[in-house]
Amino acid sequence: MRSQMFTEIREVVKEGKGFTTLRFRFARNALPGQFVMVWLPDIDEIPMSLSYVEDFKGITVREVGVATRALSSLRVGDSIALRGPFGNHFEPSHGLNLIVSGGTGAASLMPVAEVVGDKRRVDVAIGARTRDEVIFENRARLSSSEVRVSTDDGTYGMKGTAVDLARIMMKEKRYDMILACGPEMMLRSLLELSKEYGISCQFSLERFMKCGVGLCGSCALDGKRVCADGPVFRREELESVSEFGKYKRDEAGLKVSL
Ligand SMILES: Cc1cc2nc3c(=O)[nH]c(=O)nc-3n(C[C@H](O)[C@H](O)[C@H](O)COP(=O)(O)OP(=O)(O)OC[C@H]3O[C@@H](n4cnc5c(N)ncnc54)[C@H](O)[C@@H]3O)c2cc1C
Ligand code: FES
Repeated sequence: MRSQMFTEIREVVKEGKGFTTLRFRFARNALPGQFVMVWLPDIDEIPMSLSYVEDFKGITVREVGVATRALSSLRVGDSIALRGPFGNHFEPSHGLNLIVSGGTGAASLMPVAEVVGDKRRVDVAIGARTRDEVIFENRARLSSSEVRVSTDDGTYGMKGTAVDLARIMMKEKRYDMILACGPEMMLRSLLELSKEYGISCQFSLERFMKCGVGLCGSCALDGKRVCADGPVFRREELESVSEFGKYKRDEAGLKVSL
């Protein structure tokens, strides 16, 4: 198991309403899609995708509860303790990739566009609930040939979901791979869409995590451990997972409908 390491926050960036990026030095190799376990003494230890994977790493936090609120209020000079990086990673195609992000999903996906290193091989669809929650649009433009945005309420970009937007883009171009992260119901619809078009896909999933390294079973999904066998799963794997898009488990391990 990779030991815990303390690191100092070097930069804090407010990305949009309720989203904060914390940047820090963390000299362990990481690949796009991997996550770290972030420990906040006396509060909790929670999983966070790496939104920057080079030595000057980062996480991008959406405030939803106690731990994410505490993380979002950290300042330059404060310390956090990290374990990881853990999990597998996205493997973009050598052809044309479509990145589809919903909400905080953009955090784990932006590094993929950057490692591809060729704008002609990446298009991005960013979905958010409303204008203030669109994150990383400018960052995506630096590494992608086409970036389009949708909002559920139509306050910015196309009115609709990230899946509606992906459908339009897939009608216009032939993609070789869809890489996605976002709410599971979005990913479920995107899986159907990718089957309709016969396109390979890799989706990053979230489940309740405690150990992060495959030991406790709290992230189990039809016998797969999201922390160790994922968080990135391919289309063929997801097609055989009956819980995908239907149930998740709460912190007590009980099944709850999505
Ligand atoms: C692999 C992975 C990567 C993630 N990456 C990001 C990211 O880049 N940015 C981001 O903002 N969020 C990310 N999350 C979600 C984040 O871990 C939760 O939002 C966070 O744990 C909530 O904690 P809280 O105390 O603020 O809220 P709480 O009120 O405790 O929980 C709010 C909701 O968050 C989820 N949650 C709580 N604790 C955990 C846990 N230990 N593991 C998984 N989910 C939990 C539950 O669905 C819960 O209903 C990721 C989750 C996973 C599994
Ligand atoms: S979080 Fe413990 S097995 Fe995945």
